[in-house]
Amino acid sequence: MPSVPSPASASPYGTLPPASSPSLRKPVSLPRLADMHARGEKIAMLTAYDATFAAMADAAGIDCLLVGDSLGMVCQGLHSTVGVILDTMRYHTDSVSRGLRRVQGTAWLIADLPFGSYQESREQALRSATVLMQAGAHMVKLEGGGWTTETVRFLVERGIPVCAHLGLTPQTVHALGGYRVQGKGDAAGAVLKQQAHALQDAGATMLVLEMVPAALAAELTAELTHCATIGIGAGKGTAGQVLVLHDMLGINLGKMPKFVHNFMAGASSIGEALEAYVRAVKNGSFPDDQLHAW
Ligand code: KIV
Repeated sequence: MPSVPSPASASPYGTLPPASSPSLRKPVSLPRLADMHARGEKIAMLTAYDATFAAMADAAGIDCLLVGDSLGMVCQGLHSTVGVILDTMRYHTDSVSRGLRRVQGTAWLIADLPFGSYQESREQALRSATVLMQAGAHMVKLEGGGWTTETVRFLVERGIPVCAHLGLTPQTVHALGGYRVQGKGDAAGAVLKQQAHALQDAGATMLVLEMVPAALAAELTAELTHCATIGIGAGKGTAGQVLVLHDMLGINLGKMPKFVHNFMAGASSIGEALEAYVRAVKNGSFPDDQLHAW
C-alpha cells in the first residue's frame, strides 16, 4: 500500500502556518526595533509582495517585511522602479498585510513610497503615505537625502514612522548613471554621512543603505544612535540586513547582484531557506564582507 506523504514532504514549498495559529512571538514595534538596535541584535528584513510569502517569511521569524517598489521588476517585469505607481504599492501592501493578519503575524511592515508620489510637496508625501498606512503599512520608506529631510520631519510629526534610503537609490538610477556603488571616496562619504545625520535628526528611525562601501556603512551605523541602518550590499557592519526575496531564493530573472547569497542552495524548502536567512543575519554570518561587500 503506498504511504501517505506528510504535509511537509507533499509540498516542495514547505509548510504554510495554519490560517489561525496564534503566534507565540510579540508583534515587532518601533520600541522593540529600538531595543534590538540598542542591544546589537541584528534586524532581519526581506521584501514581500504577496500574502503567501509574507506568511511564510513571518513563520521563519523575519523581523521586518518591506513591500519594496522592486515589485516593479519582480512582479511587473519592468526594467526599473521608476514605472511603479502608488495604486500598485497600495494593492501589494494590502495583500502582504492581509497575509500577515491571516496568520497573526508579527513582522513590522514597511511600504515604499514610489517614484513621483512624494517629490512634489510634503503634502503630497503625506497623502501618499496615508494611502499605504491605510493599506496596512506600519512605516513608509522614501529615497534620497537633502531635500527629503523636511518631508521626513513632516511625516514623523504627523505620526507616520519613516525609513530613509541612501546610497544607491534605484528611483534615481537614470540620474546616477546606473546601478553602481555610491559614497566612494572621502567627499561622497562625507555627504552621505551628513545626509544620514540630518534624516535621523528629522525623525527617521530606520535607514536603508544600499551599495555603499562596508567601512562607510559601519562607521555610520556606530554614529547613528536613534536610527537603525539596514544594509543591502553595504557589508556586515549595519544594524540589520535586507534582501529582495526572489534574489535570496535564487529566482532572479536578470543578473544576480554580487551582494546576494542564494539561500535555496542547501535548503530543502522555501521555508528552510527563509529560516536560514534569518539565522545568518542574526548570527552575523551573512553578509560575508569578502564575498558580498565593496
Ligand atoms: O524596493 C526594494 O526592494 C528596496 C530594497 C532593495 C531595499 O528598496
